[in-house]
Amino acid sequence: MGVDQDQSMELQKLADVKLIITDRAGEVRNVTAQSGDVLMQVLREHVDLTLGTCGGAISCGTCLVTLSPQWLASLPAASDDEAEMLEALDAGAFSRLSCQLAVDAAADGMEATIAPEE
Ligand code: FES
Repeated sequence: MGVDQDQSMELQKLADVKLIITDRAGEVRNVTAQSGDVLMQVLREHVDLTLGTCGGAISCGTCLVTLSPQWLASLPAASDDEAEMLEALDAGAFSRLSCQLAVDAAADGMEATIAPEE
């Protein structure tokens, strides 16, 4: 791989990704993430420090988000562990654990709503 390709890939990795996040109070926030970021970390950093308490170990469920159907369809399917947690949380059909989702350029403009606290 040549230097130009390396630089191009590096720029792609660092591309800004705009997200539209509704927090637990119902406030809509525009958040800028970097391609490759884990959505839960982005939400902790920019929106709500209280979510993601297990650090992505799929054991707390506090990072639950609801996505609009068009975005959900573009994401990789949930792993068995994530699917089990979603079932245990009785999460809706459009819900995912944000700790299991990496942000990439395809997520630009994605809308997500942070689930209420249990
Ligand atoms: S951070 Fe705990 S389940 Fe996602």
